Amino acid sequence: MRLSSRMGLIKPSATLAINAKAMELKAKGISIISLAVGEPDFETPGFIREAAKKAIDEGFTRYTQVGGIPALRKAAAGYFKKYHGVEAEAKNIIITNGGKQALYALMQALLNPGDKVLIPSPYWVSYPEMATMAGASSIFVPTTIEEGFKVTPARLEESVTPEVRMLVINSPSNPVGACYSRKELDAIMEWAIGRGLFVVADEIYEQLVYAPAESASAATWWARYPEQVAIVNGLSKAYCMTGWRVGFALADAALIKAMDQMQGQVTSNVCSIAQRAALAALEGPDDSIIAMREAFKRRRDMVLAEVSTWPGVRCPKPDGAFYFFLDFSALLGPDCPDDNVMCTRLLEEAHVATVPGTAFGMPGCLRISYAVSDETLAEALKRMRKVMVK
Ligand SMILES: Cc1ncc(COP(=O)(O)O)c(C=O)c1O
Repeated sequence: MRLSSRMGLIKPSATLAINAKAMELKAKGISIISLAVGEPDFETPGFIREAAKKAIDEGFTRYTQVGGIPALRKAAAGYFKKYHGVEAEAKNIIITNGGKQALYALMQALLNPGDKVLIPSPYWVSYPEMATMAGASSIFVPTTIEEGFKVTPARLEESVTPEVRMLVINSPSNPVGACYSRKELDAIMEWAIGRGLFVVADEIYEQLVYAPAESASAATWWARYPEQVAIVNGLSKAYCMTGWRVGFALADAALIKAMDQMQGQVTSNVCSIAQRAALAALEGPDDSIIAMREAFKRRRDMVLAEVSTWPGVRCPKPDGAFYFFLDFSALLGPDCPDDNVMCTRLLEEAHVATVPGTAFGMPGCLRISYAVSDETLAEALKRMRKVMVK
């Protein structure tokens, strides 16, 4: 099959590779626990599902406006007022097929071939691939465990080159769960704005932050510099709606219009029924978010209490999202030379699926997700301990 040369540049997803291996073992009748998942294990709240059923019954099943139904765009604008005190209008919002499409469209709309994107490492796997698909390339900005895997203006300054057009900031982060405080984020934003960069702030996990920690939003910076900042968010994580595919971006009206034009040629609108469900979610009560946050905090504490007793394993305390990024580089040696070997061993010997740190640009580490029940999590940790702690 003769594929385009572009396809040769795009890496397959490491998470999907692990999942395929896990499925193979499952098919052999082996009970596998997957800590490789990136979605909440809770059901979409009932009132949201009801809104979708109602949309179907009312025949709300046709094409809608490409960038989203007006009520949903207004509600997404209202989200920024509710949580961040930022005034935005519907023209500053586009409704996308997940936060993923918003990120992709932003890079397509803003990057030219030869441009570079600053990506703090470890990073979410799709950022560099999206930059590549836009003809640009990535500069990974290294961080250390001592810094909580967070970048600083000094680190960014060391990596920046004249070709850099964009900075991607993800807080709370995947894969670390790192949250930037107001002070930390402000310093980064000031540096980036001063440098004339465009900042894409991926805040998809912003509802999953565990008190007393905070994760500052860049929305207030968008209000001051609308032509240099865009915020990506969505319903997947906060409302347990991963499969519904609803995300949104806040940006300058001209940029939103460009993204809208592109979406009109690629996917058209997000599923009409999912949009009605998303509208109910954004207009509804926060109870389900609060309950989920409590459950995740309990599990976060449970994992932390366990892994902090494992010799040779270190991790920063994750303040948000639902991941732990374990640095076990001290355990590497002839017997276990790298993170891929460790993850294969965890899968084959402990029957626990995890994701190697290399996938996120950080060898010697692995990511686990705690978006599974407390019992499953306890069992998985017990099994992992047997392999990782000699
Ligand atoms: C950091 C980050 N950003 C964006 C997304 C995209 O989520 P969705 O497209 O489901 O909204 C994910 C999903 O895993 C993520 O982890």
